Amino acid sequence: MANVTKRPYKEYTVYQIWPRSFCDSNGDGIGDLMGVYSKLDYLKDLGVDVIWFSPLYPSPNADYGYDIADYKAINPEYGTMEDFKKVLDGAHERGMKVLMDLVVNHTSNEHYWFKESLKGEDNPYHSYYHWRKGKSAKKPPNNWLSTFEGGAWEYNKDLDKYYLHVFAKGQPDLNMDNPKVREEVKSIMRFWLDMGVDGFREDVITFISKPENFPNGFPIPVACGIEHYKNGPNAHKYLKEFQKEVLDKYDCFTVGESPMMTLKNALPYITEGDDQVMSMMFHFQHHEADCFMTEWIHVPFSLKKLKKAFSTWQNALYGKAWNSLYLDNHDHARIINRYGNVNYHKESGKMLATMCYMQSGTPFIYMGQEIGMLNIELDSVDKYKDVLTFNNYHLAQKLHLSDKTFLKMCHRSSRENARTPMQWSKEKNAGFTTGEPWFYVNDNYKKINVEDSLKDPDSILNYYKEIIRLRKANPLLVYGDYKEHYKSSRSLYVYERNYEGKRALVVCSFKEKGVNFKAPKGFDLSKGKLVLCNYKDAKVTDNGFVTRPYEARVYLFD
Ligand code: GLC
Ligand code: CA
Repeated sequence: MANVTKRPYKEYTVYQIWPRSFCDSNGDGIGDLMGVYSKLDYLKDLGVDVIWFSPLYPSPNADYGYDIADYKAINPEYGTMEDFKKVLDGAHERGMKVLMDLVVNHTSNEHYWFKESLKGEDNPYHSYYHWRKGKSAKKPPNNWLSTFEGGAWEYNKDLDKYYLHVFAKGQPDLNMDNPKVREEVKSIMRFWLDMGVDGFREDVITFISKPENFPNGFPIPVACGIEHYKNGPNAHKYLKEFQKEVLDKYDCFTVGESPMMTLKNALPYITEGDDQVMSMMFHFQHHEADCFMTEWIHVPFSLKKLKKAFSTWQNALYGKAWNSLYLDNHDHARIINRYGNVNYHKESGKMLATMCYMQSGTPFIYMGQEIGMLNIELDSVDKYKDVLTFNNYHLAQKLHLSDKTFLKMCHRSSRENARTPMQWSKEKNAGFTTGEPWFYVNDNYKKINVEDSLKDPDSILNYYKEIIRLRKANPLLVYGDYKEHYKSSRSLYVYERNYEGKRALVVCSFKEKGVNFKAPKGFDLSKGKLVLCNYKDAKVTDNGFVTRPYEARVYLFD
């Protein structure tokens, strides 16, 4: 059996806060740091070891904080640096760590560096960005398209040059080939690490290096050109520089976000040893089981696809690298709507958590996931607020889709489904704010909220607590290996874990209808201890059982 190295971060459970929608302390309708402060005990009680904050920095909000105007300050909408330090200390006092979001593929166009870069070629900040002459009058340097807003090159008349933005226009890409830019990144890292933060989630970090000659991309309607920078030529080299010169000098860990990443390309970044440049990676392959190319193009959910994505990474990384385990985050519609069943809200919510977090890796939980928050169905297109939704609306209009059709797509696929205010209680605005919330509260909050979930022993929330507790109590669930069974089943996801003579068997049904489950060879269920189940009673007949809707069971064997 492969040898797994022990590392503290492998034993943590991480909780992601998207600050704008978490908790508002001052009634202006916007979540803030003192709101977070008031919920630290809630997070501790849940069993969380680490809080990851989506960006807290000053930002004009072209992409709600992922466009940063100052990397070493706190967005006044969220509070002050003093407030941040209070939250950091409060987390540390409770034994929790804090990760900051490091967004250095691009800045905001309102960042000082970018404003300076506009002053012309002689300005020292000009080369902080990718400024290029057009191919000819009115023709950008190449055919790349942005993920968020039309072409990836924006023309500036005064300079008669274009700047690159692979996301929104307000997110100009930094030129990481410039050593001064890399020094700035290191300085940002040191600033927060010296203050006491415990590491970073690194935004689209494998995009930071662009090929020098900017070749044309394969002509697709969105993000054309992405094949040239999704795993850029010098990305690993630059990350290694950050690792050796900064990160290695601190007690910290990182998780790098890597859209479009394949296992093969991921390994050099995450394989343990001298060339490792991130503790873990967020890849997206398990988010492709119900869509084609983009999450906005829906296809029927395929369990086989989902299992293949998870198993590929589980098998390849074991003993070599470490997985991140996540379902929801601020960029995806809610997981119960996608892979579960809203009519079996509790059952499928718990089953999905079991399926994911009993695997090998570090669990990441996104705010609201622990109470089973669901997608929101806004009734008009202009109620949506996100640049990606706008971009897709323009595309939909080009394709002559009706507003009604587009709205349906939003209900299913918009990442804004994950950005509605956190549902704390049955009170007005779900207890998120006493004022007017900046975005719509899901009107299911009277049924789905933290206050009720805490009281209900059968809630999704209490099940999450149990999962976290079980992982802490059983090194097997953290460090054990992974072996899938019944791979070709379209109904069941079954796998085992093994560690130091102990075994676990995880059985998850993705079906409403009963499925006949027989224990795989070598397992005697009557000898196992049922440690987790989303139903009260759990009988076994003939070394198996017929599953109830979305049933999940975990057996431990000594
Ligand atoms: C990442 C973030 C996403 C953001 C994008 C651009 O994917 O998670 O929210 O829009 O990068 O920064
Ligand atoms: Ca506020």
